[in-house]
Amino acid sequence: MFSKNTVIGIVGSGAMGAGIAQVAATAGHHVIVFDTSSEALERAKGNLSSSLTKLVEKQKITAGVAAEINSKIAYETGLKHLNRCGLIIEAIVEDLQVKRKLFTELEGVVSKECVLASNTSSLSIASIASACLDSTRVIGIHFFNPATHMPLVEVIPGITTKATLPEQCKELISSWGKVCVLAKDTPGFIVNRVARSFYGESIRIYEEGIAGFATIDWAMKEFGGFKMGPFELMDFIGNDINYKVTESVWEQFFYEPRFKPSLTQKRLYEARLFGRKSGSGYYQYGEGVAMPLPEKNAKLGKIIFKRVLAMLINEAIDSVYLGVGSKEDIELAMTKGVNYPKGLLAWADEIGLEEVLETLSTLYSDYQEDRYRPCILLKQWVANKQKAIS
Ligand SMILES: NC(=O)c1ccc[n+]([C@@H]2O[C@H](COP(=O)([O-])OP(=O)(O)OC[C@H]3O[C@@H](n4cnc5c(N)ncnc54)[C@H](O)[C@@H]3O)[C@@H](O)[C@H]2O)c1
Repeated sequence: MFSKNTVIGIVGSGAMGAGIAQVAATAGHHVIVFDTSSEALERAKGNLSSSLTKLVEKQKITAGVAAEINSKIAYETGLKHLNRCGLIIEAIVEDLQVKRKLFTELEGVVSKECVLASNTSSLSIASIASACLDSTRVIGIHFFNPATHMPLVEVIPGITTKATLPEQCKELISSWGKVCVLAKDTPGFIVNRVARSFYGESIRIYEEGIAGFATIDWAMKEFGGFKMGPFELMDFIGNDINYKVTESVWEQFFYEPRFKPSLTQKRLYEARLFGRKSGSGYYQYGEGVAMPLPEKNAKLGKIIFKRVLAMLINEAIDSVYLGVGSKEDIELAMTKGVNYPKGLLAWADEIGLEEVLETLSTLYSDYQEDRYRPCILLKQWVANKQKAIS
């Protein structure tokens, strides 16, 4: 269905749109980038050129290849220019009504065969698709930031998506050098659902006064091998984006306590303390500003790590149980999408499922809070002496 001759349309030339355009053009496609803002298009064009220049400087590609990639991308402010596309990937603002309006308009411009995809991080593919007369052609294709570097792409069929489309999209995007996983159309898909505890439980530990940001970050890096601690990572992603994703996932799960946002991060968001980009978040940034030092207490560090990891594993097992993704895809998603040092299911086997269950059961009995309830599948695996990955 798709081939190298398929023209790829990208709607929205922000951080994600520009990155996806570069990936598709590098794979040999003609790409048409559409944005309502000509300034945004100019910026994307400049960023894309300098990204290619850097690759030339690092001798990853030749100047000729960079020029060829650049020549494959057209920048347009008129929607009608997308009429030649065989696949359009939308990467505009994360607003359901705005996306629905765009998809309705796109259908009026493109051919009957054109596939319409959304790069949404957390919105329902079913609701975006229902804005189209032919909702069977709509699918989620979720890249991670930066799209040029992060290998993972989640492919998310909606409830009305044509049955053959997910495999066709996976085949195409894999040919672009990406690792594709199939995710169910549920809030946050795989990565943004499972990863919530990394942030949420760490903030909870801070709110309870068990440890400060620096100590929690240190514990997760020291004992878990995570490249960044949760507070460093939230400041890096931006507390505005991270808070909004958490709030959206929680609301869409009908206020499930496991995904409940924190007042700590809400206040940072309200105060516009977004993190690195605003100069201040959990930490202060700027020249000469000293970072707080962690309390390198191994006993405390191990308690923190064990608690956060148990919550992450519970979420991964719950995702297996509810068919959000296959075991293999959940492992790939967390290692390739957010750089976790190990797949959470393999990690669970390494620690022992019994120990994970004991950690969660103790938390559940101590706090009497639903957020700590162990997943039924974890209990079944322990009762049957099974492993997470058999
Ligand atoms: N930034 C991330 O880390 C990240 C990661 C994965 C997925 N996403 C998702 O990708 C999408 C885009 O995110 P982003 O960070 O690139 O956003 P961004 O704000 O950087 O860019 C959005 C672009 O869309 C344009 N735009 C807005 N409405 C439009 C319309 N109706 N028609 C055409 N263009 C329009 C804007 O002018 C802007 O250039 C969102 O759905 C987001 O949730 C973001």
